[in-house]
Amino acid sequence: MQRLVIVSNRVPAVRDRKQPAGGLAVALRAAIQDHPCLWFGWSGHQIGGDGADRPLGVDTLGNVTYATIGLTQKEYNGFYQGYSNGILWPLCHYRAGLMNYSRHDQQIYASVNTLFATRLAPLLEQDDMVWVHDYHLFPMGKALRDLKVKARIGFFLHIPFPPWSLMRSLPEASALLRALRAYDVIGVQTEDDARNMNEAFSVLGIPARARVFPIGIDPDSFASCARAGQTLPQVQRLQQDLRGMPLIIGVDRMDYSKGLPERLRGYDTFLKRYPEYRGKVAYLQITPVSRGSVPEYQSLRAELDQIVGHINGTYGEFDWTPVRYLTHPLPRELLAAFFQISSAALVTPLRDGMNLVAKEYVAAQRPDNPGMLVLSRFAGAAADMEDALLVNPHDSDEIATALHKALSMSGSERRVRWERLRSEVWRVTAASWARSFIAALSEVRTA
Ligand code: G6P
Repeated sequence: MQRLVIVSNRVPAVRDRKQPAGGLAVALRAAIQDHPCLWFGWSGHQIGGDGADRPLGVDTLGNVTYATIGLTQKEYNGFYQGYSNGILWPLCHYRAGLMNYSRHDQQIYASVNTLFATRLAPLLEQDDMVWVHDYHLFPMGKALRDLKVKARIGFFLHIPFPPWSLMRSLPEASALLRALRAYDVIGVQTEDDARNMNEAFSVLGIPARARVFPIGIDPDSFASCARAGQTLPQVQRLQQDLRGMPLIIGVDRMDYSKGLPERLRGYDTFLKRYPEYRGKVAYLQITPVSRGSVPEYQSLRAELDQIVGHINGTYGEFDWTPVRYLTHPLPRELLAAFFQISSAALVTPLRDGMNLVAKEYVAAQRPDNPGMLVLSRFAGAAADMEDALLVNPHDSDEIATALHKALSMSGSERRVRWERLRSEVWRVTAASWARSFIAALSEVRTA
């Protein structure tokens, strides 16, 4: 059996390895079960000094060996915070104006990619399939090839890829695209992303091709989480507190790509235009702080504090809080259970690679009384979720109308829409995503 080598910036923390809680670890669970694996990446820790003798942390659990390295403060700043999350992240989410471009960070990004390749290469065997993940590691395949690695190497981009006209605002955009030639398979989430990347390849005369591999969730496990979660005491407490009011829910990392200020303004418009809901509806927004040391994330937090305060001050009553707003994470089972007892979810990113919360929301519903999903047209997930209430997340009136529609929709219409959404969520899953990517990578050898 061939070994699968997974490379990603984030590697599941030791405490999460037995029972992965989210992200890539859940998505790759199926692939990991099928193959012996090596998972290589950042340990999540910063190390002192210049990193000259940094150790490789190696740890095996079942058929997976985890091999991780620490990053120095300078690398963390330049590679993770700076180039990956201060430049590539906004650009790939169509927000060139939020880029804090720095050539210095670009150099550190390149050197960390080379460092990853240099530390991984000696661990590789000829027959391995190497699968590199996400924007932190665009040039890593090229760095491996420069070290004469012959194994098959695939790359999957989890976030959107913008049109070339936007991408080229990155000074090294063409080098970055050229580096992708090193990969045998290049995967993206949606047809739009593939079109954009392939357009860039053709403008630059690069003989490479991006293919679409939409990611999904493990719907059975999420659905059973939602059922099991019903017995949690917090669920009873919330239900008592709701006193029969319908619950609207939102769950997002605190990120400007998620359209949170716009969403809250949509809820404000909803309360303004439909005053009959005041005091009669609850909105729970769970937004764990993310990348809190990047300046744009700090100003987003301040903006959200201000908008939530404004809405609660304007419409609140001594016994009713319009927005219940949390900035800490909740356990997966509790989230799934809250999804199940809610009447509607707001998933309204301005731009998102896929958005798995949308799929999880569908998986968590009860067939006899499903809640409605209000979903941004600009989430990758929208391509196959036409039965959600699709909105333009910039338009607060559209959000308000959709919320009213979600909360007043007949049970039979909700069930029909949910059945169709459900079959999509069970058709394209984490397992099908991983297996089809790995199948494409396996075929390379014979090609
Ligand atoms: C997105 C990215 C992932 C990243 C995750 C969490 O989903 O596609 O690569 O790991 O956000 O962000 P963080 O910066 O905490 O790793």
